[in-house]
Amino acid sequence: MPLIPALFFFLLLLLLATLAASQEFTYTGFGAARNGGAPNLTLNGVTELQPDGIMRLTNDTSRLKGHAFYPSPLRLLGPPGSGAKNNATAAAVSFSTAFAFAVVPEYPRLGGHGFAFVAAPDPRLPGALPSQYLGLVSADDDGNATNHVFAVEFDTVQDFEFADINDNHVGVDLNSLTSNASASAAPINLKSGDTVLAWVDYDGDRRLLNVSIATLAAPEKPAAPLISFHVDLSIVFREQMYVGFSASTGLLASSHYLMGWTFKLGGGAAAPLDLSSLPSLPRPKPDKKSRTTLILASVFSAFVALLVLAGAGAYAAYRIKNREVIEPWELDHGPHRYKYPELKRATRGFRDRELLGCGGFGKVYRGVLPGTPPTVVAVKRVSHDSRQGLREFVAEIASIGRLRHRNLVQLQGWCRRRGDLLLVYDFMPNGSLDMHLFGDGLRAVRLTWGARYKILRNVASALLYLHEEWEHVVLHRDVKASNVLLDGDMAGRLGDFGLAKLYEHGANPATTRVVGTLGYLAPELTRTGKATTAADVFAFGALVLEVVAGRRPIEPRAGPEELVLAEWAWERYAAGEVEKVVDARLGGAFDAEEAAVAVKLGLWCSHPVPVARPTMREVARYLDSGDAADVPPPPPPPPPPPVCSGEVGYDDFVHSFPSSSFERPAAAGGGEPLSQTSVATFPFSPLSMRSSHVSV
Ligand SMILES: *[C@@H]1O[C@H](CO)[C@@H](O)[C@H](O)[C@H]1NC(C)=O
Ligand SMILES: *[C@@H]1O[C@H](CO)[C@@H](O)[C@H](O)[C@H]1NC(C)=O
Ligand SMILES: *[C@@H]1O[C@H](CO)[C@@H](O)[C@H](O)[C@H]1NC(C)=O
Ligand SMILES: *[C@@H]1O[C@H](CO)[C@@H](O)[C@H](O)[C@H]1NC(C)=O
Ligand SMILES: *[C@@H]1O[C@H](CO)[C@@H](O)[C@H](O)[C@H]1NC(C)=O
Ligand SMILES: *[C@@H]1O[C@H](CO)[C@@H](O)[C@H](O)[C@H]1NC(C)=O
Repeated sequence: MPLIPALFFFLLLLLLATLAASQEFTYTGFGAARNGGAPNLTLNGVTELQPDGIMRLTNDTSRLKGHAFYPSPLRLLGPPGSGAKNNATAAAVSFSTAFAFAVVPEYPRLGGHGFAFVAAPDPRLPGALPSQYLGLVSADDDGNATNHVFAVEFDTVQDFEFADINDNHVGVDLNSLTSNASASAAPINLKSGDTVLAWVDYDGDRRLLNVSIATLAAPEKPAAPLISFHVDLSIVFREQMYVGFSASTGLLASSHYLMGWTFKLGGGAAAPLDLSSLPSLPRPKPDKKSRTTLILASVFSAFVALLVLAGAGAYAAYRIKNREVIEPWELDHGPHRYKYPELKRATRGFRDRELLGCGGFGKVYRGVLPGTPPTVVAVKRVSHDSRQGLREFVAEIASIGRLRHRNLVQLQGWCRRRGDLLLVYDFMPNGSLDMHLFGDGLRAVRLTWGARYKILRNVASALLYLHEEWEHVVLHRDVKASNVLLDGDMAGRLGDFGLAKLYEHGANPATTRVVGTLGYLAPELTRTGKATTAADVFAFGALVLEVVAGRRPIEPRAGPEELVLAEWAWERYAAGEVEKVVDARLGGAFDAEEAAVAVKLGLWCSHPVPVARPTMREVARYLDSGDAADVPPPPPPPPPPPVCSGEVGYDDFVHSFPSSSFERPAAAGGGEPLSQTSVATFPFSPLSMRSSHVSV
């Protein structure tokens, strides 16, 4: 009977069983020196072992998670009969653990998010989320029994979603962040940055879980646990479980540190932590006064940070809102692209006080661009919803930007922001000719004959340049008093090329869009819709008579025989009373010779038949000579067509403009006076022709 070997075998079995059931380990710090080589731990997430022997699970960057697990799985479910009352089902094995950790929030009193002791079947905790999920579970599986996650959380944020009791609590979590038991950590502040000592003890026989916490100031395990919770952990545990820690940060963040850990499986208390040997956080302990200051300063900086955050958010929103979309075709175009914020700043956010004028197409603002010396500009803001139209428009203004003439309002550059086009022009300090002629009486008087005649010569010179002297024929298409601006020397400058179309020399100048202003529109335009240089000449003729007479081309308030300025002037001219055409407000102070030149040219240009009109070269030459005898007598007009009846050829006209993506733009440069209403976008009805006369 081999009794002795049998006994020996039995003893060996007993020893093995004891070894299997009771397993313990101790980490006093996590440095290599203290553990005889690098400690064997399974780390993932952002967990790092610091050289000072402290394990850092997260730093204070947002939305991080860090895990650290004992590398081998533990048998947390005992075999049937090993647990409570020799029950036939598997029972959770008793365990005891103690650890020292610290939570150092980015901003005092604003922790984020928390730290937990965990038992889980997989040390990687797949799918677990940071923030309020503490790196334990995901939003989808929170509360799902398939998680098999047991945790004791040290939570520094109050999540209402999980019915947290406050932002400084300890909780027992079974598969869910909604704690099955929780208690406030007070008076201990978990996120003070001070080391917190914690004990988690589970009595498998009594199915009782105890959790206690303490601080280094009173490091003894309290007699009464903070949480004493009756729970059968076999409902959560699997046979093989990994034990360790998890921490996460949210929008607000804390650094989570672990300094030491002891663990014992199979009953009995875990070995106490050797507090004297634990690594300590290299954090100067400020005295109470400077601590208060520190807290105040930190709260202040938290506030500032929040402000900065809000500011950054607002800025991002602003950037998105004000984003300039640069499309490839835009890069081909000069002259100079401005940045939207630059122009916004220059015009002080397009303030009404900076408003120079307002037209049918947009508003014109005064702007000051920084520099030495600062440049004053006029910024025209054109709203546009047609992308295609905008593209053509940009192509046009880009070409226009290359035009250089002393009697043109120079386009300095442009900027596009979504549907808005911002055109930057030279600022014209003396405003528009229109304003001087029809603004207040004093201005009209101050606009002497000499000044008026000079302005006419300037405009003629500009039109000549556009029609014949540049590389392309440029049609202005909207010559009128409000588009003539006066610079510092009261020289006239033609502005607003928004509608000008470019034509190659020799090509048939034709267009399908007609835009203009009533009274300046050549009669053939309303029939054919084709803009030509002759139509510009017609408009110039209307302008000449307007400047001479100080009356609008069409004066609805005048009697029927004075309604159309050109007809009225023709009658005066035919009667040999040229001087009666001249603005009475000048009080007779004018040069009769020049007045005769101007009236004859004005009438000639106003001829209803395009080919009967002079060219701008002729006009400019006669104006420059100032000799009335040189100017041939204007051919008498055919019997005037019925004005404003609109019936004749109206159908043709409508069909010529199936869609007009351009409207009459606002005045360039100095802009139109606000009081003036502008008219005549096509297609218009006979009714609107009648009702849309400009009048002040
Ligand atoms: C925190 O850790 C993350 C991941 O390791 C890293 O990207 C980040 O730069 C760290 N932040 C700080 C403030 O050290
Ligand atoms: C770490 O632990 C694992 C699992 O117990 C083991 O396989 C491995 O050999 C250990 N490594 C070291 C360096 O101790
Ligand atoms: C065994 O455990 C189950 C629940 O875990 C319990 O209902 C039953 O009473 C236990 N049996 C004994 C003999 O204690
Ligand atoms: C729990 O998770 C499992 C596996 O992920 C899934 O099949 C099940 O539908 C989930 N149950 C609930 C209630 O979400
Ligand atoms: C824990 O709480 C959840 C609800 O939050 C509940 O469904 C579950 O039964 C609880 N478990 C225990 C053991 O109290
Ligand atoms: C848990 O706490 C209770 C007191 O609430 C105590 O009687 C019991 O012994 C404790 N159990 C463990 C395992 O610490």
